[in-house]
Amino acid sequence: MSLKILSVKKSVPQKIVSNEDLAKFLDTNDQWISSRTGIKNRHICTSESLVDLCEDAVKKAVEQAGIAFSDIDLVICSTLCGDYLMPSLACCVCERIKISCPAFDINAACSGFIYALDIADGYISTGKANNILIISAEMMSKLVDWTDRTTCVLFGDGAAACIVTKGNAIRYLKLTAKGDTNLLSFPVGTGNSPYKETRSNGFVNMQGQEVFKFAVFMIESQSKLAFEKLNITADDIDYFVLHQANKRIIESARTRLKQPEEKFPINIQNYGNISSVTIPLLLDEMLEDGRIKKGTRLFLSAFGAGLTTGTCVMIWE
Ligand code: ACO
Repeated sequence: MSLKILSVKKSVPQKIVSNEDLAKFLDTNDQWISSRTGIKNRHICTSESLVDLCEDAVKKAVEQAGIAFSDIDLVICSTLCGDYLMPSLACCVCERIKISCPAFDINAACSGFIYALDIADGYISTGKANNILIISAEMMSKLVDWTDRTTCVLFGDGAAACIVTKGNAIRYLKLTAKGDTNLLSFPVGTGNSPYKETRSNGFVNMQGQEVFKFAVFMIESQSKLAFEKLNITADDIDYFVLHQANKRIIESARTRLKQPEEKFPINIQNYGNISSVTIPLLLDEMLEDGRIKKGTRLFLSAFGAGLTTGTCVMIWE
């Protein structure tokens, strides 16, 4: 592998929606949501567009990396759905920050950030790019059904941007996709074609318990593969930076890996599940508070619709 992360910065909408706020219009309560998921609050877009959040995160990430916008030679944006289906969110970002370079979106659901790292590695190792802007950005609030208490309480909105460049930080990276549309999906609406025989409007739908089992199984099995390949054990990892979908999933994984609580950072209480944003957002916070520094050994793991997974071991440079 051939890259390192130079900077990571987040941007979240201003409005914070608490579990109590949701209980005002849904048959739910703080006790149910926080005990089943660990979530207390989430940030939800009001006036902000997704590209607004991206622009804010990108400006901070570029400044932290100490590069100019014009040094960016590729933009990869991980998103389930940008502000437009076309053009891509990556192109909208280019317009905002006035750069011109190859730019495209990818959708690997919640595993998107690790998928983007893998694509970036391909570009850097072949010399096709030097400074790549990776953005994860999600507006889950426009994808969920706000009358469905089983899904809308779980998600939040936000973005995170990072600059990656040539380096040796990544020691292992593996992607998988099972090929599944049953457990977690968002069917796109059918438009108004006079020829379409059935009509539908999409919302996120999920078989929560099955996704839960898949997530716990895959974190354990994929970590085993990674550790065997690197000839290390879980004890050699400083932090397990896992997709923040449910605190109980993270705790189950921790128990199986027999590791102490402090090695599994959690911030889902403040943001909910922001799909592919959760991992870079957590990295930003861990860099800010000093938990991550040069030499810190990280295990990243995500799972999402598809069913996709991404697993990465890196030593921070
Ligand atoms: N408030 C109150 N009650 C609720 C709520 C709510 N918000 N939602 C569901 N319930 C009720 C159900 O109706 C059900 O009631 P019943 O027993 O009368 O039928 C009861 O609570 C239990 O429902 P379950 O679905 O069995 O609850 P479970 O313990 O499985 O928790 C949850 C649900 C939180 C979704 C859990 O299954 C989960 O987290 N799964 C993983 C989800 C996940 O990781 N998703 C993201 C993956 S990919 C991505 O990030 C996009």
